Amino acid sequence: MSILITNIKELVQVRNTNVTLVEGDDMKHLPTLQNAYLYIEHDTIVEYGSMKDLAGIEAEEIIDATGKTVLPTWCDSHTHIVYAGDRTQEFVDRINGLSYEAIANRGGGILNSAEKLQITSEDELYNQAAKRLTEVIKLGTGAIEIKSGYGLTVEAELKMLRVIKRLKKEFPIKVKPTLLAAHAIPKEFKNNKIGFIDLVVNEMIPAVAKDRLADYIDVFCEKGYFDLEDTQRVLEAGKKHGLIPKIHVNQFNAFGGVALGVKYNALSVDHLEELNPDDIIALKSSNTIPVALPGCSYFLSIPYTPARQLIDAGLPLALATDYNPGSTPSGNMNFVVSAACIKMKMTPEEAINAATINGAYAMSISNMYGSICRGKKANIIITKPIPSYHYLAYAFGDNHIDTVIINGQRYE
Ligand code: NIG
Ligand code: FE
Repeated sequence: MSILITNIKELVQVRNTNVTLVEGDDMKHLPTLQNAYLYIEHDTIVEYGSMKDLAGIEAEEIIDATGKTVLPTWCDSHTHIVYAGDRTQEFVDRINGLSYEAIANRGGGILNSAEKLQITSEDELYNQAAKRLTEVIKLGTGAIEIKSGYGLTVEAELKMLRVIKRLKKEFPIKVKPTLLAAHAIPKEFKNNKIGFIDLVVNEMIPAVAKDRLADYIDVFCEKGYFDLEDTQRVLEAGKKHGLIPKIHVNQFNAFGGVALGVKYNALSVDHLEELNPDDIIALKSSNTIPVALPGCSYFLSIPYTPARQLIDAGLPLALATDYNPGSTPSGNMNFVVSAACIKMKMTPEEAINAATINGAYAMSISNMYGSICRGKKANIIITKPIPSYHYLAYAFGDNHIDTVIINGQRYE
């Protein structure tokens, strides 16, 4: 199978060399090619160039992209799309004045989702997650990380991870699974947090590692959830079993979780709505990428991650959705890109770099995903006719996507 896309108004995120991460000032630069073509064979980007140089290339299918923008699919490095039901009641309660914290303290929040998940069958859980995954692919997501964390028992966490494994098998996009082992303290361990960490370290992590159900280990490092010591124990056990840390830190409070993540060589530290100068110093001497989740800030009305501080300090930044029932019931990366520009003062160039190549880095797949580069996977968004790629961020709330190509095939 081969596809030739012709007359592309602007081909975005074109990289002649296989760049795998874009940092600091370089994020302001988004290479593009105007009046271009793109040639795909099987699942691979084979060639691209200027229309005037298009000679001798024949393909089984030709797509005329006159007036349209073409870019790599979004790489969403932080989601929790396997969950049961929704939390609309808590949403209304928050509108009426209750805080996210107050809802969690009365046994809602993550514990509410865990209760629902535990009584939901594996097939039903798969069906709900598959529907969400189908929708986000149509919105241009071509690679995704998915976390467990609503199980809170060994059995239910394994169930979640098996659902993720099945999504990985059934769907054409890249799926990276994460064991979010310590997400909240289960009711049964209310006064015995150490007992729960023991369970995570001695049973949950070894069971998951034995079945090779996860690549990454995650912890919700936060006041009222898991402190630095708990986080350290979980990361250490995860690393012992070959799981790479990717952690939730600084969502509501900054108390050294970033430096701890860096110490354990975390691939990413995610959230960072709160940030201390020390966090930036820790990140400066690391390969750990910060990940911002503006959909969460929007939905919970909490501060946005200070992207300018991070990027202006020379650091890389990735953008992801955090798609989950409690803090971000949306997996729309187009909205994330737009919100990053509008609320975090990222330029469209920075936001698109953050949502493509840097998102891929935050899943260790940026050698094959996240840019238009010869030899990379043919995961492509073709927009409707739009004036420029700036318009994707500017005209927020509309769907500008015309066609999504995954592994060289139209996704319908
Ligand atoms: O990333 N912060 C922790 N976990 C999720 C939300 C969990 C929930 O409320 O269900 C997050 O925002
Ligand atoms: Fe999250």
